[in-house]
Amino acid sequence: MARIECRGFSLSSVYDDRTVLAIPPVRLATLSDARAIAELSRDSIELGLGWSYPPSRIQKAIRSRTTNVAVVHESGCLLGFGIMDYGDTAAHLVLLGVQPHQRRRGLGRHVLSWLEQCALTAGLERISIEARADNPGAIGFYQRQGYRVRGRVPGYYRGVLDAVLLEKKLGMAGAGGAG
Ligand SMILES: CC(C)(COP(=O)(O)OP(=O)(O)OC[C@H]1O[C@@H](n2cnc3c(N)ncnc32)[C@H](O)[C@@H]1OP(=O)(O)O)[C@@H](O)C(=O)NCCC(=O)NCCS
Repeated sequence: MARIECRGFSLSSVYDDRTVLAIPPVRLATLSDARAIAELSRDSIELGLGWSYPPSRIQKAIRSRTTNVAVVHESGCLLGFGIMDYGDTAAHLVLLGVQPHQRRRGLGRHVLSWLEQCALTAGLERISIEARADNPGAIGFYQRQGYRVRGRVPGYYRGVLDAVLLEKKLGMAGAGGAG
């Protein structure tokens, strides 16, 4: 499958009653982004589980034609990123992270929406995610973005921590709202 790009798809702002909060655009990562992404993964996502996504593995994902590594920067600093694999019928969110001091300003939703739009454009039916069972914040975030809990995998993370499986149906598959 060719690399999927979403040129022109950009949520540039989040509106509420009184304010317009600028959100920097999402773009595909380049190899030079790999270290900052890997360090954010190590410190925010993989905490206590070792470092499964060092820069070399992130670079491999950036080079992959079936994976999108999306980033948001501001003033040259990485604010957040997401990695999604695209298959023939389904996509899989591999990692999603936002710098601690940048959370709750809509960046996680912004990056996830960008990656989801690529899956939708490619005609895929669903997106799956595994979240750490000890991370209710992330599980709540995904549920807020329309994902449903599908089950639990004991010991998914290095045999010591369970994963909660979440899934979202896309396009016509999601239109009926059937679980
Ligand atoms: C999960 C994560 C990516 C969310 O990113 P974020 O930029 O803070 O999320 P957003 O600001 O886009 O949140 C959108 C909505 O999701 C929900 N949400 C976000 N964080 C939440 C939390 N900790 N608990 C419950 N709901 C949450 C809220 O409804 C929020 O809207 P609101 O702020 O208007 O109430 C971020 O908290 C993070 O990087 N966590 C550490 C890494 C991680 O757990 N990654 C996911 C597993 S790979």
